[in-house]
Amino acid sequence: MPSAYARRVLVASALAASAPRRDILVCGWVRTRRDAKGLTFLEINDGSCLANIQVIVTSASRARACLDPVSTGAAVAVTGSLEESPGKGQKWEILAEDLTLFGGADPETFPLQKKRHSDEFLRTIAHLRPRTNKYGAMFRIRSEAAFAVHEYFREKGFFHVHTPILTGSDAEGAGEMFRVTTLPPAAASFEDDFFGRECALTVSGQLEAENMALALGRVYTFGPAFRAENSHTPRHCAEFWMVEPEMAFADLEDDMDLGEDFIRQIVSRLLTRCPRDLDLFNRFVDTSLLNRLQRLTDAPFARIPYAGAVEILRESAASFAFPVFFGADLQTEHERFLTEEYFQRPVIVYDYPREIKAFYMRANDDGATVAAMDILAPRVGELIGGSQREERPEVLENRLRELGREEKDYWWYLDLRRFGSVPHAGFGLGFERLLMLLTGAANIRDVIPFPRTPKNLDF
Ligand code: 4AD
Ligand code: MG
Repeated sequence: MPSAYARRVLVASALAASAPRRDILVCGWVRTRRDAKGLTFLEINDGSCLANIQVIVTSASRARACLDPVSTGAAVAVTGSLEESPGKGQKWEILAEDLTLFGGADPETFPLQKKRHSDEFLRTIAHLRPRTNKYGAMFRIRSEAAFAVHEYFREKGFFHVHTPILTGSDAEGAGEMFRVTTLPPAAASFEDDFFGRECALTVSGQLEAENMALALGRVYTFGPAFRAENSHTPRHCAEFWMVEPEMAFADLEDDMDLGEDFIRQIVSRLLTRCPRDLDLFNRFVDTSLLNRLQRLTDAPFARIPYAGAVEILRESAASFAFPVFFGADLQTEHERFLTEEYFQRPVIVYDYPREIKAFYMRANDDGATVAAMDILAPRVGELIGGSQREERPEVLENRLRELGREEKDYWWYLDLRRFGSVPHAGFGLGFERLLMLLTGAANIRDVIPFPRTPKNLDF
């Protein structure tokens, strides 16, 4: 026996109907209720799309009897007929026969009343914000983007691999790991700990992805990453999702090509698949959004070596708070100048000074730079960080020694250079930054359902 809900029709499909239909069941949350003479209008949303469906309850309808406690926020099931709407603004509406109230929402205390709430306020009720137009749209876009990521790599012949979340190695070497332990707070030694050694949440799946690429050829991992950076910026989360492809038999050029093609493809697919949800962001969040996204898919990204970027910044008339010189990390203000003013499109900066980049990046012949690349986007800043990896065992060993790292901690990573080493390259894309690009959202806390940031672990 199918359940009572099995014949439920999603609002998205009801609104796409091609003919009237009798005996339809729709379930959802009441967005608004309006009473007129002898009629009640309910706007119902079930999350399947941005639009609500209008439900009409006449005084003759059986649904009338259950209507009293139905107000904004209530969860209801409505049966009735799908009719062509004589009113403006919608093609279809439901003439209600019956109505069931699942859970009411006391108008005195339900926080989502019919008005625009600030993002700051909505962050304090992250459990309810997906029921607003904006956040419903956000999380549908997020889902569609995740699907597009898998689809893209699958089409390109990349295998999806799962890399560990519990790890013993600091992939980036930045020491921003969250420790994981089962020891009581005052315990003396890691030997007594669960794994008999230090354990942390991963900052990146790269090292293991490299490992898999050196067997399967082309792989990607798409998982959570954790960083205990105490950065209170609108672009950093302590827990975020990263897409990390890795290619064997590839160099920095291939890496840049893949990164650019990937971003442009995802944007283009989302423009086709989420037009209504994206249009909401274009209207209410950033009126230049759709224009910018369209341009991004139309024109190639700019590419410039780090040294060239430094030159542009030094020669610009702009005054920066942070000094610019060869060897300096590019700050947000520099990234914004390059992407928003100078090039007015995404920019790939490559060949960074080795001192400011991770140990695994391949040394260039100039002795000063490594084969690294960052893709910077207007308003978002760094969207992708990637590199060709150091595949020469002696060079990698020297670098580890230089940085005071223990070779034994990297034994398996070094083994990959000793046995069948090949040129290889990959990158990491911050999935939340991609969503900021797609929606124009200015704060990373608004593109992930339950953001984790310093001093914030609610929900
Ligand atoms: O540049 P990152 O640190 O590179 C890596 O982790 C490499 N292991 C990736 C690789 O080559 N496989 O991080 C990659 C991207 C950044 O460009 C940024 O988009 C995002 O991850 N990211 C963050 N996003 C949100 N919050 C944070 N705290 C982030 N840190 C990095
Ligand atoms: Mg980076």
